[in-house]
Amino acid sequence: MGSPACDLVLFGAMGDLASKKLFPALYQLHRVGLLADETRILALARRDLSETEARRQIGQALAEHTDHLEEDQLASFLARVAYLQLDFSKGDEYQRLREWHQNNGNGNPWIFYYATPPGLYGPITRYLAEADCCDTETRVVVEKPIGHDLASSRELNDQLAVVFREEHIYRIDHYLGKETVQNLIALRFANNLFASQWDQNHISHVEITVAESVGVEGRWAYFNSAGQLRDMVQSHVLQLLCLLAMDPPSDLSPDSIRDEKVKVLKALLPLSRQRISTHLVRGQYTAGSSDGIPVPGYLEEEDAEGSSNTETFIALKAEISNWRWAGVPFYIRTGKRLPEKRSEIIVHFKPAPHYIFDPDQEHLANNKLIIRLQPDEGMALQILTKDQGLSRGMRLRPGPLELTFAEAFEDERIPDAYERLLLEVIKGNQYLFVRRDEVEYAWRWVDQLLANCEECASHPKRYAAGTWGPVASIAMITQDGRSWYDDA
Ligand code: BG6
Repeated sequence: MGSPACDLVLFGAMGDLASKKLFPALYQLHRVGLLADETRILALARRDLSETEARRQIGQALAEHTDHLEEDQLASFLARVAYLQLDFSKGDEYQRLREWHQNNGNGNPWIFYYATPPGLYGPITRYLAEADCCDTETRVVVEKPIGHDLASSRELNDQLAVVFREEHIYRIDHYLGKETVQNLIALRFANNLFASQWDQNHISHVEITVAESVGVEGRWAYFNSAGQLRDMVQSHVLQLLCLLAMDPPSDLSPDSIRDEKVKVLKALLPLSRQRISTHLVRGQYTAGSSDGIPVPGYLEEEDAEGSSNTETFIALKAEISNWRWAGVPFYIRTGKRLPEKRSEIIVHFKPAPHYIFDPDQEHLANNKLIIRLQPDEGMALQILTKDQGLSRGMRLRPGPLELTFAEAFEDERIPDAYERLLLEVIKGNQYLFVRRDEVEYAWRWVDQLLANCEECASHPKRYAAGTWGPVASIAMITQDGRSWYDDA
């Protein structure tokens, strides 16, 4: 079968993450035969539900959030699911979990998935250990955010480390499970064409855009305590940066890859007080429109307080101080309520060293590699060719060498990130998960940025929902004689 048998214990099984992501992903693994027949799912939640009712609600969530739902597959999937009511914050309740395992035990190893607020990670871990629910092989899966800063992430990591070994802790950054993000590794290290061009000799600058059209989606309180820097940059965006900038690992083993990513994080130049004014732009959306529909501003969202200095948009210029990347800026922008959902990376190559064509065409774009993470996953390499025809002489024309995954792999659906991540946890492969030192180095960089950023305590620049952030983010890149890709 596709994966070894396990008992997957989901804390927070009736919550949002489980309904929208985890059960749909597990269902898809079941549907395509990637779960071993003996694998079971134990759903844990506070609600007092019978097993039948819990299964019914899970089935309902699947109907809402799953494509390819087939009646017989759904029935056999739900048959794997058991339900146990448990108040996670009460230590004495964990004996019932232990009893469940004893009474239903079939020798499967346990995997605990904490789909709960991070404040519960510490208590759950302690109570599991006290109730003797863990052995030396037990795995645990935790979601971001791992802390709010370096100190709190260390505290959280310490709490996990008391019970679980690092090689059994799976810290999820769901961007690492996205098909195209993994493709970065294939693109860079399976194609010598790029490998030999991937440095400051050949690349002038890189853009990373992670744009969302949604607002804070009912999570105002959480988001307001985090902001776009902590919520998106510290995790997803820095992971993308690491995969783009790291040196070739000697193999695909988890630690070889993660060792290289850590080197990038260590080499990230701190944003000193002087640099912040030219390297960082913070924004917050005001009322505007999304897909033509009027939407409220950040401060008018459900549960919003009347005022807040939290940013919903960040543009920054990151630099990596090592031989490979010296002098190559990485322009990053990410925000909520931007005109569209779009994540992409643009690698801009330097111009040819000597130009021989028509001088009035010298402005034509240099080579660019465009990596579209979502939507419309694919890649395009912008090259210059000769314009066709007798009349045009040696006129140049820019055009893409295009690879759209949906067209190239027509019969394959693109799996959701959680499908791959859950499969790798079950297989016991950590290469798509974040190691403790990665999380901590990422926080160290974010912490120094915040410590040096006097203006972070003041109100961010405003931008109307449905626009590309504050105009200052355009100025940030144009001051270097460049422009964001879509503005070009
Ligand atoms: C989450 C953030 O980690 O990623 C959210 O907390 C964000 O704020 C989400 O909306 C974006 O993920 P995706 O996969 O939709 O790009």
